[in-house]
Amino acid sequence: MTSPERLSDILTPALAVDVNALDRNIRKMAEFFAFRRCQLRPHFKAHKTPEIARRQLAAGSCTGLTCATVFEAEIAASVCDDILIANEIVGADSCRRVAALAQQVRVTVAIDSTIGLDAISLAARETGATIGALVDVNVGQNRCGVAPGASAVALGTLVAAAPGVTLRGLMGYEGHAVGIADRRERETAVRASMQQLLATKRMFDEAGLATAMISAGGTGSVDIGSAMDGITEIQAGSYALMDTDYARLDLPFEHALFVLGTVISRPAPERCVADCGHKACTKDHGLPSVKDLPGASVLALNDEHAIIALPPGCALAIGDRIQLLPSHIDPTMNLHDVVYALDGDEVVGAWPIAARGYSGAPR
Ligand SMILES: Cc1ncc(COP(=O)(O)O)c(C=O)c1O
Repeated sequence: MTSPERLSDILTPALAVDVNALDRNIRKMAEFFAFRRCQLRPHFKAHKTPEIARRQLAAGSCTGLTCATVFEAEIAASVCDDILIANEIVGADSCRRVAALAQQVRVTVAIDSTIGLDAISLAARETGATIGALVDVNVGQNRCGVAPGASAVALGTLVAAAPGVTLRGLMGYEGHAVGIADRRERETAVRASMQQLLATKRMFDEAGLATAMISAGGTGSVDIGSAMDGITEIQAGSYALMDTDYARLDLPFEHALFVLGTVISRPAPERCVADCGHKACTKDHGLPSVKDLPGASVLALNDEHAIIALPPGCALAIGDRIQLLPSHIDPTMNLHDVVYALDGDEVVGAWPIAARGYSGAPR
């Protein structure tokens, strides 16, 4: 198979990134953080693509990368020497992989239980590595994390004493608040969460526990969390590529990612079917939007079919291309091996989505 040179050469369904829009988003975010004490730790899970991470780091204002899985961290280590796995890692094999990685780069993991702490500490001792740890605090999302306050201090005290583990501070992801469309409501919810995290930080300070890293936030809370004294880094990921779910908010970032499809059927004047179903574009955050075709909308995504309503008189024909804007970039990226990099209609790269999937087993 020859590599495509133009947009029209790309076999569909496929993922494509507008490199100029991507770079504008990355630059805008780096400039926002350029003169702030709080810095950015871009979340690699959003795209799982080393070339995008390389561009984010090169733009500056970054402390390192955030990852969600051990495999992501292993892949991210090819472009970054300071990685936060903002997630609980508990299995012995997974902890051994974290320890092995910690011998090559600085690694910090989130911890919310003594079971998790013991597993990480054991792997660190077996390997001779030092693994950094943040106590993960539940600041309202009700996912992982210990309760703010005394419970966090109790766990922090154990982490600080655990062999092979270095306590570096706290993490609190306000995932319930980052996507609230109304700016005032979002600000109130994010601030309430961050106040819980910062109150816990003050208790850590009083107890003599490390607080060098206070990590929080996402794309929807960048300017809110970073303005609060004591938050040291924001884990935003979606800003680089953007999706239609985040586009509901008043954010200064543009769509840089789209799914390419080909019209395979034209069963009625007001309807077409394209070859990009939900194996090419996820729908967990709602149906995608149709790009550059005013009045068109996706009616349904089947496994291999996108059923699209067309405006009256639409001339779209079988064989024509369509482009969908994903509603949720993270899982959409995870469906593809490669994202084609476009400068206008010219294909300037085929970037491996190297950390897609989980294990890293050969495909
Ligand atoms: C732990 C954690 N931090 C940060 C984020 C922020 O991501 P986004 O930029 O998509 O808001 C997420 C997203 O799910 C997350 O799970």
